[in-house]
Amino acid sequence: MTFDSAAFSVFAGSRAVITGGVGFIGSALAETLVGLGATVTLVDCMAPNYGGNLFNIAPFRDRVQVEIADVRDTARMKPLLEGCDYLFNLAGQTSHLDSMHDPVTDLEINCLAQLTLLEACRAVCPQAKIVFASTRQIYGKPHYLPVDEKHPLHPVDVNGVNKMAGEAYHILYHDVYGLQATALRLTNTYGPRMRIKDARQTFVGIWLKLALEGKSFEVWGGEQKRDFTYVDDAVTAFLLAALRDETKGKIFNLGGEGAVSLDELAALVIEANDGGTFSRHEFPAERKRIDIGDYYADDRLFRQITGWQPAVPLGEGLKRSIVYFRENMEHYV
Ligand SMILES: NC(=O)c1ccc[n+]([C@@H]2O[C@H](COP(=O)([O-])OP(=O)(O)OC[C@H]3O[C@@H](n4cnc5c(N)ncnc54)[C@H](O)[C@@H]3O)[C@@H](O)[C@H]2O)c1
Repeated sequence: MTFDSAAFSVFAGSRAVITGGVGFIGSALAETLVGLGATVTLVDCMAPNYGGNLFNIAPFRDRVQVEIADVRDTARMKPLLEGCDYLFNLAGQTSHLDSMHDPVTDLEINCLAQLTLLEACRAVCPQAKIVFASTRQIYGKPHYLPVDEKHPLHPVDVNGVNKMAGEAYHILYHDVYGLQATALRLTNTYGPRMRIKDARQTFVGIWLKLALEGKSFEVWGGEQKRDFTYVDDAVTAFLLAALRDETKGKIFNLGGEGAVSLDELAALVIEANDGGTFSRHEFPAERKRIDIGDYYADDRLFRQITGWQPAVPLGEGLKRSIVYFRENMEHYV
């Protein structure tokens, strides 16, 4: 089954709230929802170390409501959620290393705020369809590959523990209170608008920046296998997860076309950039401790239920990313 994009017409006239909506994936989702005719509210705290960037929403800024607000602030969140039809819950602290240096902030955003958000939903929008941006990080070092949803959860960092709890609250609130919540466990997502000034969101960002600047980038290890989702494919997945009744109360992996090694990825970045160099290094000790090694998802469950499949091959997605950042670099560094 492939999905029927005409089904997305149900978003026309609906009210959608996107937490983390000025960030990388959230802003891409916002642009698509606006195009589909939804009334969209973006909630983002715009903290400097995170991916929020007003340039992300510049092309459609006048067609969305932007609330610079913190999801930890329940008093602000409740009225914003009142009567919403869809909550795409993407606000998060994304850096694994930062979560080790400042574990309490990660706990507050990725765990506690998720609970208070769900309490707010119970009170003011119990009918809303909720899609939570979870992460493959919660599996930890895979015991087998590809990783399906039955794989044990054994996070290797504070971020993984808190995202695991945030996800579990969503499913608990479905099971106990009937909230229509779904979780998508994302793998490396990449594309235009991602954070490239450092590796806080993904190492792919800093690779692209350095390649575009004509500088060599570092590959730590190189043989690890990973999978990648182009941002437009992730957006489609969020919409499908919100749309289908069969997804409610369930957790799904989201992957890509298959696995590539980091060496192969580095070569694809150089090809997309029409030039560049990289060097291989041992993992820095601090990072090695929280690295998950090989990971790629078995996402057949989500594909079967929704018809989702990735539309943008990795090489093409990297080319589109390079073109975007070549044109807009000054807004991302
Ligand atoms: N990009 C990936 O590869 C990836 C992989 C797995 C999971 N995810 C998850 O997807 C979600 C979106 O990630 P992204 O890649 O777009 O990152 P991002 O940093 O661009 O987006 C997250 C947004 O949340 C906002 N935010 C953070 N804390 C907040 C708070 N307390 N209140 C309000 N807003 C807050 C940030 O300002 C940012 O704009 C995150 O929850 C992340 O954990 C992303």
